[in-house]
Amino acid sequence: MSDPAASLDAFACESLAALDASSLRRRLVPTARGARSRATRDGRALISFSCNDYLGLSQDPRVIAAGRTALERYGAGAGAARLVTGNHPPLVALEERLATHKGKEAALVFGSGYLANLGIVSGLVGPGDLVLVDALGHSCLFSGVKLSGAEMLRFRHNDPSHLAELLGRRRGKAKRALILTERIFSMDGDRAPIETILAIAAEHDAWTLVDDAHGLGVVEPGARAPLEMGTLSKTLGSYGGYLCASRAVIDLLTSRARSFVYTTGLPPASAAAALAALEIVEAEPERTARPLALARRFTDRLGLPPAQSPIVPVMVGAAEEALTLSRALEARGFLVVAIRPPTVPKDTARLRVAFSAAHDEGQVDALAQALAELRTETPNPHQTARSSFD
Ligand SMILES: Cc1ncc(COP(=O)(O)O)c(C=O)c1O
Repeated sequence: MSDPAASLDAFACESLAALDASSLRRRLVPTARGARSRATRDGRALISFSCNDYLGLSQDPRVIAAGRTALERYGAGAGAARLVTGNHPPLVALEERLATHKGKEAALVFGSGYLANLGIVSGLVGPGDLVLVDALGHSCLFSGVKLSGAEMLRFRHNDPSHLAELLGRRRGKAKRALILTERIFSMDGDRAPIETILAIAAEHDAWTLVDDAHGLGVVEPGARAPLEMGTLSKTLGSYGGYLCASRAVIDLLTSRARSFVYTTGLPPASAAAALAALEIVEAEPERTARPLALARRFTDRLGLPPAQSPIVPVMVGAAEEALTLSRALEARGFLVVAIRPPTVPKDTARLRVAFSAAHDEGQVDALAQALAELRTETPNPHQTARSSFD
């Protein structure tokens, strides 16, 4: 008789050995985050340059107080899906504020950004439709397309002429077309040419979704797309995802997005914390300008191209080398996690440095200095970000 439990374990062990052999195994490390970008790992105090808490709002006393008040008033969880009894007042208030912030008629909050993209894409397109995705788009955009059953084409990263060419060749055969891109790319920190993409979309009657996970509150937004999606988990310091769009689109997805309909609503504390954070984003322009200014200071110090966002990739290439550089920085008190395939394309492992309003100039200079010193020890750790297409 076969033993399915044994064959399952054998499969897991073999797969882990393969991941180990290519330096691609992931491990969880307990990390206690604190105020002013501090993090403790294995009892060591570090300055983190790996959080997406771009304004330090996850640790802001006003955000924490708003979450605590909602927790005490409405309880720890939503209690049910939003279409049942989970549509609590903090969610309603948050959606109104998000819609106003983005200049849209309405908003819909999902359980996370990942769930939002799964539900939005699969709720709007299906078999017989065409989706065009930037080649460096986030995993959840690709997962949304797979779930939808629509045909998927990748266009070269930030290359509108390739997008136009693909639409010119294939749009005629599809009923509906949807373009997916990011305002700020999560692993490269560069900006998409949204205005040009919207002009191409108009020529081909294609809808555009901009994933603004890393842009909200930290870069000038520029042109807005009909579908403005994002997350509550980065600049807003909380947890959850959202879409801002027309009332009709939001109403349709309220009925049709499976990752919205069939899941419990976001906890009241998460929604209230995000709302308090959004109010701070709107009220404190000096804070919102700071992460990009610090990122530019860092790129200046290292002679890298000027940062376009608070995210700066320090390109390494091989996964093992990226891990080595990350460990060397950790030994000097900096937490800068190595990013490896499949999160980024093959041979483009890197350190992804993320700046926050909670950093001070001295910390930024110290990190630049440490990297400059390590660069002399390790050949070629700082090529600039390239766009890749495979
Ligand atoms: C571009 C982008 N989209 C979506 C997500 C998913 O957001 P969340 O963390 O809220 O699931 C992320 C987060 O990693 C992201 O970087």
